[in-house]
Amino acid sequence: MTWKRSSVGEGSNELTLRQPEGLVAPPARPFQGFRAVTPSSKRPGPWPHQPVLLQEVIEDLALEAGLTVVDATVGAGGHAIEIAKSLGPTGTLVGLDRDKEALQVAEERLADASCRVELVHESYLSLASVLADLGLGRADRILMDLGVSSMQLDSPGRGMSFRFEGPLDMRFDPTQGTTAMELLRRATEQELSTWFSEYGEERYSRRIARSLVEVRRGGMLPRTTGELADLVARAVPPAARRARIHPATRVFQALRIVVNRELETLEGGLEQAAQALAPEGRLAVISFHSLEDRRVKVFMRDHMNPLRKKPLFASEEEIHVNPRSRSAKFRVAVPRAASSDPKSNDAGSRL
Ligand SMILES: C[S@@+](CC[C@H](N)C(=O)[O-])C[C@H]1O[C@@H](n2cnc3c(N)ncnc32)[C@H](O)[C@@H]1O
Repeated sequence: MTWKRSSVGEGSNELTLRQPEGLVAPPARPFQGFRAVTPSSKRPGPWPHQPVLLQEVIEDLALEAGLTVVDATVGAGGHAIEIAKSLGPTGTLVGLDRDKEALQVAEERLADASCRVELVHESYLSLASVLADLGLGRADRILMDLGVSSMQLDSPGRGMSFRFEGPLDMRFDPTQGTTAMELLRRATEQELSTWFSEYGEERYSRRIARSLVEVRRGGMLPRTTGELADLVARAVPPAARRARIHPATRVFQALRIVVNRELETLEGGLEQAAQALAPEGRLAVISFHSLEDRRVKVFMRDHMNPLRKKPLFASEEEIHVNPRSRSAKFRVAVPRAASSDPKSNDAGSRL
């Protein structure tokens, strides 16, 4: 297994992180390089992230021994470990993630894989150059399981969730980029309102943005997840405070999307994936909200041939065991030239 130092953001127009005054962010863990690995069979688990739609993903990827498969968001390796089982000693699995901690977990879990495994700390925006650097040609299969992992949500230091008190960080890669706190310090009221409305589909976006700018003027900007959640709860009308979901849910989603430039990155990543795919390849994408799914759907419709018109959803059974799967939508497409009928946008059934 190899690890590569990240070059994401180097020379790009991403803002450089400046540590906000008084924000107690955990220091980024130093890069470990090659590590001694305890075989996954010796680790009891449970693993911190349950892969979503696992059976559907494995089935639709139509795996075979000897293939080159890219898991572009390898996370805790839940999908990757199942994929690796089908590739055999002649196959290759490339796992990418922006989160080094996730790669460490994936490395442990994949220690016993019989195929070649390459884990790379990179964004899927660099998918084509990663394959070239590894001396690999095109990928036969590419999986993108978008968004945030349970591991990240449940790590207070990442600041992704208001369920835990933590710094307002929210970066997938805590070694670079701009924190949510920094954005809150710099953004105009109009920007904040637009983010909450567009990326969070938040009805009270203007009220929340106004409240934030008011407290910022008084030098009282929230510094932690709990403080931000409280501010949002106070800014919305009382009825909205009693809603089924916490009133800060959409604001947190919006900020995370902006911090990680998730939608721009997704569009670039889909283009990279389509270019990196072999003519008979398959691209499989799991999305978790309509902003992502719309982009995946339009991209596959305009540039590839989707296997089916409608996405697949998790079964009731899976939702019961893993509630996070409730909002998952799964789409698969093949390159245009590979279709038997190039005009067809929908094979209508599983191939
Ligand atoms: C839903 S989790 C993937 C979980 C994984 N499929 C599993 O079963 O364990 C999404 C992962 O994508 C990573 N990620 C987000 N944006 C990324 C990007 N642009 N490039 C690579 N990884 C990214 C996140 O850090 C996170 O670990």
